[in-house]
Amino acid sequence: MRFSTSLLAGAGLLSAAYAIPVASSGWGEWEGQGNGAGGGYGPGSSQPSSTPAPPPAGPPAPLKSGNPFSFPLSNGFPNLSPGALNATAIQAHGTEPNGGAPTGLAADDLTSVRFIAFNELFEVAFFTDLLFNITNNVAGFTIDDHNTRQLVINAITAIQAQEELHADNANKILVANGQAPIQACQYKFPSASLDDAIAFAKTFTDVTLGTLQDVQLHLANNNDDGVVPVIGSVIGQEGEQNGFFRLFGGLIPSELPFLTRSTREFAFSVLNQAVVVPGTCPNENLIDLPIFLPLTVNTSPIQPKDQTLSFSVPVDKSSPPSGLSLVYINSQNVPIVEKIQNAQVADGVATFDAFFPYSENLLNGLTIAALTSSAGPFTSAEDVAKVTIAGPGLIEIL
Ligand SMILES: *[C@@H]1O[C@H](CO)[C@@H](O)[C@H](O)[C@H]1NC(C)=O
Ligand SMILES: *[C@@H]1O[C@H](CO)[C@@H](O)[C@H](O)[C@H]1NC(C)=O
Repeated sequence: MRFSTSLLAGAGLLSAAYAIPVASSGWGEWEGQGNGAGGGYGPGSSQPSSTPAPPPAGPPAPLKSGNPFSFPLSNGFPNLSPGALNATAIQAHGTEPNGGAPTGLAADDLTSVRFIAFNELFEVAFFTDLLFNITNNVAGFTIDDHNTRQLVINAITAIQAQEELHADNANKILVANGQAPIQACQYKFPSASLDDAIAFAKTFTDVTLGTLQDVQLHLANNNDDGVVPVIGSVIGQEGEQNGFFRLFGGLIPSELPFLTRSTREFAFSVLNQAVVVPGTCPNENLIDLPIFLPLTVNTSPIQPKDQTLSFSVPVDKSSPPSGLSLVYINSQNVPIVEKIQNAQVADGVATFDAFFPYSENLLNGLTIAALTSSAGPFTSAEDVAKVTIAGPGLIEIL
C-alpha cells in the first residue's frame, strides 16, 4: 500500500461522509474531526469515526472469481432477468434509462454502441473479480482498517452494478436497432495487488473517458445527437469513479483541466492486446474497428520531466521500418510528433527511443502514444488513429 488506506482511514473523511445519509452520528464525528487541532486530514491524526460504514444497500453482489475470468455471473449477467435487473439497479443506486432505447442509429454509431458493450463487459468482469478479492481477503487485497475496507467494498459494489447496467443498456440499444448483442469474452487481469488493481482501473477508465468523447463526436456528426446526453451522463459517472481510484492511489481526484482524448480504435486495440483472452470473443468480428499492433512503453516508472522514452513493437522484418513517427496525445491539445531514434530489430521485436516533451506540454494524467506511418501534422486524435501502426502506449503521470 502506498498512501491509499492510510490516506482514507487517517482522514476518516470518506467513510464518515459516506455514512451521513444513514448514520446520523457520523455527521457530528466528521465535523468534530474537521474542526480538531491539526485538521485531522493526514495520516497519524485522530482515529476515523467508530461508526462502521453501512453495508451496501440491496441484495448481495454477484461475486465470482477467475483469471481468466468467464461469464455468466450468478445473477445471470450478461442476461439479466427482470428480477435480476431490479436487484442490480438497487445495488447500482439507480436504474437504466427508462424512456425507451434510441432507434434508427447510423451504422457508424452502432459500431460505437458495440464497442461500448464490449468495453463494459470487460469492466464488469474486472470489478466482479476485484470485489471478490477484496471481500474474501485474497492475499494482496486485504485492507486492515475496518471502515476503509467497508468504504472500498461499498464503492466497488456500486461500481460493479453500474457497469452491469452500462453493458446491459448498450446491448439493449443494439437489440432495439435489430442488431445482435455483443457477447462476452474471457478476460485476463494483470493486477496481483489492490494497489495494482486500482491503478489499472484508473488507466482503463482514463481510456474510456477519452473514447466516449470520440463516441459523442461520431453521434453528432451522424445526426444521432439525441444519444449525446446519455453518453455525457456516463462520462461524468466514470469520471466520479476515477476520482475515487486516483484518491485511493494518493493522487488528487481531478487529473487534468481537459481530459485526454482517445478514439474507438485505440480503446478497442488495447482491450484486445491487454485483457481479452485471444479467440474467446464469440462475435467481436461485428465490431468494425481495427486492432493495431501492441506498442510497449519500456520505460517505467516515468517521472514528470523531459526525457527520452524507450518503446518496442513486434515486427516481421529484419530491419527497422523507415518513415515512422511517434505521436503523443494528451488533453485536448494538438498531437505531438517526435522522431524515432536508435531503432533496432532483434528476435522479431523493434526497439526505439523517442523524446517525451513533458515540461513544455505538462503531460500529466493519461498520454496516448502511437507509432504512425506519417509525421503529420495532425489536428486531432482521429487523424492519428487513421495512420497508426502500433498503439496505444499508455503513459500515466500524476
Ligand atoms: C423492484 O421490485 C420491487 C418489488 O417488486 C418493486 O416495488 C420496485 O419498483 C422494483 N424497482 C425497480 C427499480 O424496478
Ligand atoms: C484477484 O486476485 C487474483 C489472485 O491473486 C489475481 O490473479 C487477479 O488478477 C485479481 N483480480 C483483480 C481484478 O485484480
